[in-house]
Amino acid sequence: MKRGFLIVFEGIDGTGKSTQCELLAKSLTERDILNIALAEPTRGTWGTKIRKLLSEGRQGISPQEELSWFVNDRKEDIELNIMPALQDNKVVLMDRYYFSTAAYQGALGLDPEQITLENETFAPIPDRVLIFLTSPETCLERIESSRDQKSAFEKLDYLRNVQGIFKSFTGPNIRFIDSVGSVPEVHEKVLSAIEDLF
Ligand code: TYD
Repeated sequence: MKRGFLIVFEGIDGTGKSTQCELLAKSLTERDILNIALAEPTRGTWGTKIRKLLSEGRQGISPQEELSWFVNDRKEDIELNIMPALQDNKVVLMDRYYFSTAAYQGALGLDPEQITLENETFAPIPDRVLIFLTSPETCLERIESSRDQKSAFEKLDYLRNVQGIFKSFTGPNIRFIDSVGSVPEVHEKVLSAIEDLF
């Protein structure tokens, strides 16, 4: 069945992927390409629970339980938002998807490959995955200057491990984007990493 494209923006916090996701949505709209920008964790039932965990810290929640919350959130997102938009032939831009689960929950000691395989049993596989890379030190500086408080997910050693897992992903749909330059420079890199899809 014909469906729209699924393009995913991934990377550790502070790499600028959310800004680039919004910019791409704008530039597709300017070219009259129907699109929708979505983000995980969502604003739904499970996403709200996750956000509380992010702001209050992981008090006594096991990595396995944390993983199940992200998976439940994603299942809801796929059913309510992602599949309907793809079936409407829209380009779906995702700010985080199951690669974040493999990297972030993988860095807690779970097996990233196993997480990816489990997700791929129910989640549509993206046409393109853009993984943004900036040094974790720079990312933390960016986060600190833009927010009052870091979340439980934003510690240097943890982010180093998360980025290490992001860098280990391979596959025909994966592209790495060096996101150290200015916003317009990185936007140009995003455009050249997806132009063959259109
Ligand atoms: P983030 O994209 O930073 O949300 P916001 O911009 O609204 O703060 O995501 C919040 C955190 O959730 C981020 O530190 C990464 C983490 N996360 C996981 O640990 N696993 C996942 O599967 C997803 C989607 C996010």
